[in-house]
Amino acid sequence: MDLLKSRLLPVIALFASVLFLYFRIPSSKQSFDSDCSLLAHDHFWIVSNRVVTPRGVTPGAVEVKAGRINTVKEGEYNQLLLQNEHVLDYGDAVVMPGLIDVHAHLDEPGREEWEGFSTGTKAAAAGGITTLIDMPLNSFPSTVSEETLKLKIEAAKKKLYVDVGFWGGLVPENAFDTSALDKLLMAGALGLKSFMCPSGINDFPMTNSTHIKEGLKVLAKYKRPLLVHAEVVLESENNIELSSDESDPRSYTTYLKTRPPSWEEAAIRELKDASEETRLGGNAEGAHLHIVHLADSRTSLDLIKEAKSGGSSLTVETCPHYLAFSAEEIPDGDTRFKCAPPIRDEANRQSLWEALLEGHIDMLSSDHSPSIPDLKLFDEGDFLRAWGGISSLQFVLPITWSYGKAYGITLNQLTAWWSERPAKLACQANKGAIRSEMDADFVVWMPDVEFELDENYDIHHKHRNISAYLGKRLSGKVLATFVRGNLVYSEGKHSPAACGALILAKQ
Ligand SMILES: *[C@@H]1O[C@H](CO)[C@@H](O)[C@H](O)[C@H]1NC(C)=O
Ligand SMILES: [Zn+2]
Repeated sequence: MDLLKSRLLPVIALFASVLFLYFRIPSSKQSFDSDCSLLAHDHFWIVSNRVVTPRGVTPGAVEVKAGRINTVKEGEYNQLLLQNEHVLDYGDAVVMPGLIDVHAHLDEPGREEWEGFSTGTKAAAAGGITTLIDMPLNSFPSTVSEETLKLKIEAAKKKLYVDVGFWGGLVPENAFDTSALDKLLMAGALGLKSFMCPSGINDFPMTNSTHIKEGLKVLAKYKRPLLVHAEVVLESENNIELSSDESDPRSYTTYLKTRPPSWEEAAIRELKDASEETRLGGNAEGAHLHIVHLADSRTSLDLIKEAKSGGSSLTVETCPHYLAFSAEEIPDGDTRFKCAPPIRDEANRQSLWEALLEGHIDMLSSDHSPSIPDLKLFDEGDFLRAWGGISSLQFVLPITWSYGKAYGITLNQLTAWWSERPAKLACQANKGAIRSEMDADFVVWMPDVEFELDENYDIHHKHRNISAYLGKRLSGKVLATFVRGNLVYSEGKHSPAACGALILAKQ
């Protein structure tokens, strides 16, 4: 009897596993929803003469299967080998990892009239962005607790055309409340964001360096980053400027003087000090500090370099508008260009490019931050009272490329700034490179095709007229965007359904 059992058991086990596979395979097939993609299948090859892999730009074929990259064949590929497969041949168009925007304000819930999950992620998809991380402010309420993060998650459901994660907010109210921060982080916030100056949003007050150090200590346990808006209000300088005679609020120079580089410098000096706790053996070892939208390429940048070389876990981003525009060319009254910190002079713009090329600036982000057009006060053109924030989400790739051409930037550099390093910041190990096992997130684009960003262009941001780039001629047209194997955007069309994933940090 025992002998029979021992012989039968393996047979039963085999039979059971066959049964299991039989029922499992069809069900995983069924999970492919054709409304999520403009393609009818989830197993296919993408071929092109210019695939951007970690090793360079090469002719290649990328096999996509069930949302992942299955294989990457670099070098000349043999079409015959793919005869019985679904093949999308993009010829000379560039196939690159999808862009990851770690800094976007989608404003939902609460300020859907400013932007929204649906419009924002449609714009992202049309621009080759496959993942974006939403900022905790400009929505209402701000994302500063487990409860408010849940409101975000609820509001985002079924509206996402690309994958979306969330930063939580570090504010004085939760900075000393470890259990509140624990809950926010355990609920899936990918990290925290705070301001060192007033944010312009009432329920998102600013933090000082004590709050920042407390936040870093908690983040260390989770190995997640703190992102900081680095400007400190220096009252003395502010008062001198505002009491002077030349304070025409329509003049861009007036605005520039109200937020001098010394504000960035002062903040970054404090951050450099706080970042020392992230070093090996420090109080916040394991945490990471990330400076958002650096505008000053002088002393602020030197302080960042010193902090990095001292061993702090520190990175910094800048945004396309600081690389594209300079103060000299901003017309008086044109508040589309208002953002904080402000766009500075031409020499500063050029040194930002140099810092990016030399690797001192680690990555780029959009800081897409729209509002309703009324708040931009176009009639008054008042730079001091207008809402600050530049809308650019859909166009960051052509903008970076168009303005970077003068500096000889390469496709691999673009990928480092827009995909690899942002993926690392947001701890997305499955994203940011074309390599087997990674998520099948791609942008397919033609760097040499130029277009006018004019009234006739198909813009998906909620408010097209507030973009500072309207009227520009740009180079680099997005043909197609894939998110985890779903063709979510192709030649002007979006997939019927919004199937982007919510990215929540796992403990
Ligand atoms: C920051 O503010 C807190 C009150 O929220 C205060 O206890 C702390 O001393 C302040 N730190 C600094 C450096 O001003
Ligand atoms: Zn921002």
